[in-house]
Amino acid sequence: MRIIGLRHLVPLMLLPLVFSVTANEDYQAAKWDPIHFQPAIDSATNEQCLECHLEILIRKPLKTSPAGVKRSDTEAWYQTLNSYAGEQESFHYRHLQSQLARQVMNLQCNFCHRGSDPREEAPASHADNQDDSGYNLRKMVDVEKTCLRCHGQYDYKVMNLPGPWHETRDMFNDSCTLCHQTIRTNRHKVSYLHPGNIEYLGNKDADVCYGCHGGRSWYQTSFPYPRNSWPGISDTIPEWAKDRPTQSEARYRLDTSADN
Ligand code: HEC
Ligand code: HEC
Ligand code: HEC
Ligand code: HEC
Ligand code: HEC
Repeated sequence: MRIIGLRHLVPLMLLPLVFSVTANEDYQAAKWDPIHFQPAIDSATNEQCLECHLEILIRKPLKTSPAGVKRSDTEAWYQTLNSYAGEQESFHYRHLQSQLARQVMNLQCNFCHRGSDPREEAPASHADNQDDSGYNLRKMVDVEKTCLRCHGQYDYKVMNLPGPWHETRDMFNDSCTLCHQTIRTNRHKVSYLHPGNIEYLGNKDADVCYGCHGGRSWYQTSFPYPRNSWPGISDTIPEWAKDRPTQSEARYRLDTSADN
């Protein structure tokens, strides 16, 4: 039997070190890959992001929370509605993969991820990030420009309604489109939504509309929606609408020249 000498072993012992250094260099390079930042992130496709971040699509929530609560034993109000389907899933799943998400939305990674700073996650904190790159303190996404669009309060006051939806829905036949087939009809013509499917599903079930306009309101405020002109709009602008844009954001606007 031949005994392996030390001079054979040393290179072998060094191997893991060599691998870990290369892995670490790759890791650092990937973490700071320019695709994460402006301007490259603006034109990044989901496929490009998923080349490194496939975990975003396959990760599942824990079966049991660290405190012992089973995921199957927890249910939020909106999860009891017909507009919700399936088991507890991850945040990304609910915005990219669930049936409802794919029907009503067309979200891209870079709709939410607009560049963040892995070093501090705070703008203007060091020499490298003096530009206002559009992200918020300690957040990876700017919630007011993203989440708030679909998770703000149901603003019944601007609608001149006597109360919040849960108190008045019976009065209006449990239908948003009762009013909205004639009011603010020029809606959702943006690339990150599927306007046709929204009308189809929302007409059958107001919880689909409410789901993005108060039914899952994680915020105390409402998004200041643009007020796209519609056939029958009055010439007098209500006080609350004076500062509102009159068109959806250019970045997302679909060509609506065929309408109106
Ligand atoms: C070349 C591989 C690669 C590509 C392509 C890539 N990433 Fe990353 N990303 C990484 C690595 C590595 C990290 C660091 C992960 C960690 O520290 O946990 C990271 C971190 C992140 C983070 C967390 C940042 C933080 O502040 O902690 C987000 C969010 C992210 N990536 C989103 C994206 C998006 C969106 C895209 C497409 C525009 C993308 N990534 C493309 C490799 C990549
Ligand atoms: C609806 C908005 C939204 C979309 C769309 C979205 N993300 Fe995220 N992402 C978030 C939020 C919010 C976080 C959590 C940020 C935090 O913890 O501060 C996050 C976290 C992450 C992280 C780091 C933390 C983690 O969970 O591992 C990565 C990586 C990431 N997203 C990649 C992606 C990729 C890739 C896509 C597209 C396939 C994508 N995201 C689409 C909002 C979004
Ligand atoms: C374009 C509209 C839209 C945007 C933007 C959006 N969401 Fe959502 N969100 C939805 C819809 C629709 C659902 C319901 C999906 C389903 O039931 O499958 C949802 C579901 C959720 C849920 C519940 C998930 C669950 O397991 O039931 C949370 C939490 C959430 N969103 C947080 C956020 C946050 C945080 C952001 C911003 C980073 C965000 N959303 C951006 C439309 C949106
Ligand atoms: C009784 C009639 C009525 C009903 C029912 C109604 N709305 Fe409205 N809604 C209005 C009016 C009026 C406005 C304001 C029109 C304007 O811009 O002058 C409005 C405005 C809105 C706006 C824009 C708010 C803003 O800040 O720009 C949204 C979003 C909206 N409604 C969603 C809904 C949803 C979702 C439902 C059902 C859950 C619903 N509405 C039910 C009458 C109604
Ligand atoms: C997936 C989330 C989602 C669903 C479902 C949804 N909305 Fe919206 N709604 C939005 C977003 C985001 C905007 C802002 C779009 C933009 O920037 O032009 C908006 C805008 C509006 C506006 C203002 C339109 C304008 O430009 O003046 C009205 C009114 C409205 N929605 C009513 C409804 C009604 C009624 C339904 C059901 C038939 C519904 N929404 C379903 C997300 C949603």
